[in-house]
Amino acid sequence: MDKLLITGGRPLAGEVAISGAKNAALPILCAALLSDEPLVLTNVPRLNDIGTMLKLLAQMGVKVERDGDTVTLDAKGLDNPLAPYELVKTMRAAVLVLGPLMARVGHAKVSLPGGCAIGARPVDQHIKGLQAMGAEVQVEHGYIDAKVGKLRGARLFTDMVTVTGTENLMMAACLADGETVIENAAREPEVVDLANCLVSMGAQISGAGTDVIRIRGVARLHGATHRIMPDRIETGTYLCAAAVTGGNVRLTGTSTNYIDSVVDKLMDAGCEIGSERDAITLKAPARLKAVSLRTAPYPAFPTDMQAQFMALNVVADGTAIIRETIFENRFMHAVELIRLGANIRIDGNTAVVTGVDKLQGATVMATDLRASASLIIAGLVAEGETLVDRIYHLDRGYERLEEKLGALGATVKRVS
Ligand code: UD1
Repeated sequence: MDKLLITGGRPLAGEVAISGAKNAALPILCAALLSDEPLVLTNVPRLNDIGTMLKLLAQMGVKVERDGDTVTLDAKGLDNPLAPYELVKTMRAAVLVLGPLMARVGHAKVSLPGGCAIGARPVDQHIKGLQAMGAEVQVEHGYIDAKVGKLRGARLFTDMVTVTGTENLMMAACLADGETVIENAAREPEVVDLANCLVSMGAQISGAGTDVIRIRGVARLHGATHRIMPDRIETGTYLCAAAVTGGNVRLTGTSTNYIDSVVDKLMDAGCEIGSERDAITLKAPARLKAVSLRTAPYPAFPTDMQAQFMALNVVADGTAIIRETIFENRFMHAVELIRLGANIRIDGNTAVVTGVDKLQGATVMATDLRASASLIIAGLVAEGETLVDRIYHLDRGYERLEEKLGALGATVKRVS
């Protein structure tokens, strides 16, 4: 199993390009299922999760071609609407095939994702929405087995804000009879990127980016070309890494547009942030100030940046209170950070982090994607060597991480 060996202590400096967003690309790849014409996607990141989704789509009869960061999908021959456990268990986002399959062929058999390291993560809201649109759904032998003659538009209200739930139901509604209204919809920028792609395929959608999305069903969707938005979490992660190491960086192919809450906290911590049309610069202060935060659905502070900001607070001046409100078990990185010398106290969904003057390198274990990122950030500032085990999590969501960090002057090596 691969590990990353980090020699800490060097400030990050220079320029690096940010990739396309994993969490936008995953639902948009599934949107190809809605049409019998090709969907051409550019700026698709080369990540293990993307590879898993392409494998799943190919298994369903979708023709997949990949050339660099361009992916062409042709779902004309879609003939096997099945998402098996073996693939879903490695990537929960595979559940995003459910909505489009129901819309296009009226049948889907999708493995239940099961729990994961950060929480139970049920998909009951996806199922409830499809049932309201007329689908018959059985959950048996670990599979969601859903059938419908034709989905019909409905008024849908999700009990909580769910990102992939909103995306699944929005895709399902595109080919339904009549109008669907999704209330309490997720407002995440990735939902908007998906809606933009669907509109360019001929869908009639309004309100994406607000908490009420209206979709008027159409008879068919056509082919289109769409560029995936920049990854706001990758952007935030590199900004944190630069901040923690006392660095000075310029990130290209991204913007501050979708990360106001993150930029705000970095400025509170004492960083100077420059915003260009297609780039962001960050200059770190001599010592960061502790910043308290509370995660919540967009536009509030993203749960996917919580672990990286814990690493930032670990070496900042003062005490920060971090509240995680989205996932029930998302502090697994804290115990690993403590192994590096951090002062963190956990009480339920609250972490109290008191900054220390320095961290010391040690062997630590990554438990999930963003937890891994926080350990890398801490390793970059720790004295001596930090070995991060189980980095397969990172390969799911960060494109060419060692290469990009290396370009910024960090000493990071992959070891087997
Ligand atoms: C997406 C992101 C993930 C991010 C999360 C929250 C993708 C591929 N993944 O995950 O990176 O951390 O949003 O911003 O876009 N819930 C239910 N029932 C449901 C659906 C959700 O109880 O049917 C709960 C979840 O357990 C969680 C909360 O709602 O506590 C929010 O989850 P959700 O927004 O659905 O997360 P994902 O879409 O899985």
